[in-house]
Amino acid sequence: MSPAPAKTSIGIGVIGLGTIGTGVVKVLRRSERVISERLGFPLRLVRIADIDTERDRGVDLSGVRFDADAQGLIEDPEVDIVVELIGGYDTARRFILRAIERGKHVVTANKALLALHGHEIFEAARRRGVDVGFEASVGGGIPILRALREGLAANRILSVHGIMNGTTNYVLTEMERTGEPFEVVLKRAQDLGYAEADPTFDVDGIDAAHKLTLLVAMAFGAQLTFEDIPTQGIRHIKPLDLEAAQEFGYRVKLLGIGKIVEAPDGGERIDVRIHPTMIPRESLLASVDGPMNAIAVHGDAVGPTLFYGAGAGELPTASAVVADLMEIGREIRRGSAGRVAPLSYLPEALSRKPLLGLGELFGRYYLCFTAKDRPGVLAEIAGALGEREIGIDSVIQKGRGRASESVPVIVLTHPAREAAVADALVEIDRLSDVTAATRVVRIEEEL
Ligand code: HSE
Repeated sequence: MSPAPAKTSIGIGVIGLGTIGTGVVKVLRRSERVISERLGFPLRLVRIADIDTERDRGVDLSGVRFDADAQGLIEDPEVDIVVELIGGYDTARRFILRAIERGKHVVTANKALLALHGHEIFEAARRRGVDVGFEASVGGGIPILRALREGLAANRILSVHGIMNGTTNYVLTEMERTGEPFEVVLKRAQDLGYAEADPTFDVDGIDAAHKLTLLVAMAFGAQLTFEDIPTQGIRHIKPLDLEAAQEFGYRVKLLGIGKIVEAPDGGERIDVRIHPTMIPRESLLASVDGPMNAIAVHGDAVGPTLFYGAGAGELPTASAVVADLMEIGREIRRGSAGRVAPLSYLPEALSRKPLLGLGELFGRYYLCFTAKDRPGVLAEIAGALGEREIGIDSVIQKGRGRASESVPVIVLTHPAREAAVADALVEIDRLSDVTAATRVVRIEEEL
């Protein structure tokens, strides 16, 4: 039997015509020629489904069937690749699994879904012989997943870390620039469209944890869920912390960190966490401002690499979606779907890896105590630290109040075990002269 003739074009169906969906339509239109010149065949936008078919998105939808029938789109024989851009868990999962069942390839930007149900989706796709593209789910337009999966595939990856959430990076940058508190700057981020209407996933670090779950799977073959990742957001950070960081030669960034570390027993552990971090002001990551993302990958052969760019937004995110459409289009034409494992490692090579506990971390800490301005308070704090062998590197006391008033007392420690620091803080926060919970920011001199 002779092979089926290659399709002359690849049919695309988009579910969800929000910001990214509209961007995908725009990029498919504006890049039509370059796509054809690179592929040798066109990507044809066949169908779009969205519950809101009335709103004018300012894009040319001529020749495209546009209605609210996502199920019909999935079943449509003209649609070869289903693009899921509705976000969320249940409905998106149902659409994706149904599309796979129907033999359709899938492209999604839904990191929340993949961080929770990725293994189910990838396994379903493997069994059905279709591809799942998800470049847009991490770092917006930055091709970081493709770099890990293919460009850096020859490396044993030693670390992957960086600024993975644009909203929080914008908020920290603006708080530092203006001295305004978190709530005021967050409101501005929402007005500018950087933050979601419900900003919880962004500001509490959950969005970054979703992305880091995918990155550590691709970097280390580590099969985690995002709930395994210790996660702290930026709500508690005050302008004073950012000002003090500057005085000490640091900037504060919400970092996602994944690295291979040697355990005391000689085995390997994965140190994985999301939290505000003080990093040296002259480091490359410290210069990443506003809503930009930057992700550093260290491979044993390539050494350090850094990927920088827009981590969100209509056209940058659409750039990643359309790149996935082009790659899958090629696979369809060549009949080579499943050529590369989605998480870079073959499913049988993925495994749960032992994680380093936060208490085992060994580093320097920024501690901001809130204490009554009375003689002897500093000695009590220093005593609690000293008893646990936590050395003090520098101290700043901001302002001078009456003895009844509280003032911030800032301490930078020498390297110490985090379990000892946490233990000392329990004692210090119980002191009668300490009037608020101590704020802690981990310091990373080099990653
Ligand atoms: N809300 C995300 C961010 C964008 O602020 O980075 C999409 O990942």
